Amino acid sequence: MTAVSSLKGSDQGRSGSNIFVLTGAGVSAESGLGTFRDRDGVWTKYDLNDVATPQGFARDPDRVRAFYNARRANLAGAAPNAAHFALARLQREMSARGGSVMICTQNVDGLHEQGGAVEVVHMHGQLLVTRCQACQATWPDRQAMRADTVCGACGRTATARPHVVWFGETPLFMERIVDAVEAADLFVAIGTSGSVYPAAGFVAQARDLGIRTCEINLQPSDNARAFDERLYGPASEVVPQWVETVLAV
Ligand code: OAD
Repeated sequence: MTAVSSLKGSDQGRSGSNIFVLTGAGVSAESGLGTFRDRDGVWTKYDLNDVATPQGFARDPDRVRAFYNARRANLAGAAPNAAHFALARLQREMSARGGSVMICTQNVDGLHEQGGAVEVVHMHGQLLVTRCQACQATWPDRQAMRADTVCGACGRTATARPHVVWFGETPLFMERIVDAVEAADLFVAIGTSGSVYPAAGFVAQARDLGIRTCEINLQPSDNARAFDERLYGPASEVVPQWVETVLAV
């Protein structure tokens, strides 16, 4: 039995018409993509300073490209799970009722769209997009990035990097995200440890505005106490059950 049973009394099934959903690595864990901070997480095997900072890229671009090329290879074998499909359904059905669901993801994997979601804000970028570090041109790319990858816009080589936000860089679409949080009547965080800002601060912003908040995670996150409702268990089970309760209203 998952922790959906922890939904209590009058909270059960109550929903907003404008829902802001923040997702993290936990929503893709059951698709076979590792999380970052769990046991065996990516940051237990790699030093993020080496592979996820501009300084790490400047020191050793080949190491950084190899790290993200391996993640591209992993992603090639991954498929959306029931949590991705349920969120896409929530988006469709709320939209048909005149509401909205913004899915704002810290994930770079694209599995929300593969699961049918249509409006997804990729605040940490996208793994299957390459960016030229020199001219900032971006292009869709499933291949391995190499030192001799040529930028189609400026013609340089040795500048290819993933279009992924690194530590020390500013997440994308922040203005749009802040506006969407302010417009929401329900804020839901799914599968995120609540340890990386600014995303980890969105729940406080929502609470300050009196917006109801809900956490869905395998276990209490660092921010657990900031949430009005807390549902614990695997995303592939808890998210579809939660979506049912929201749509049942
Ligand atoms: P984390 O690895 O920090 O947290 C993943 C969360 O998902 C944890 O709280 C787990 O308990 C939970 N989890 C694991 N498996 C789950 C499952 N099956 N169902 C539900 N929850 C599960 O990942 P994020 O919070 O996404 O940034 O990390 C945020 C950012 O830090 C990432 O976007 C990435 C990383 O460094 C960059 O690389 C810039």
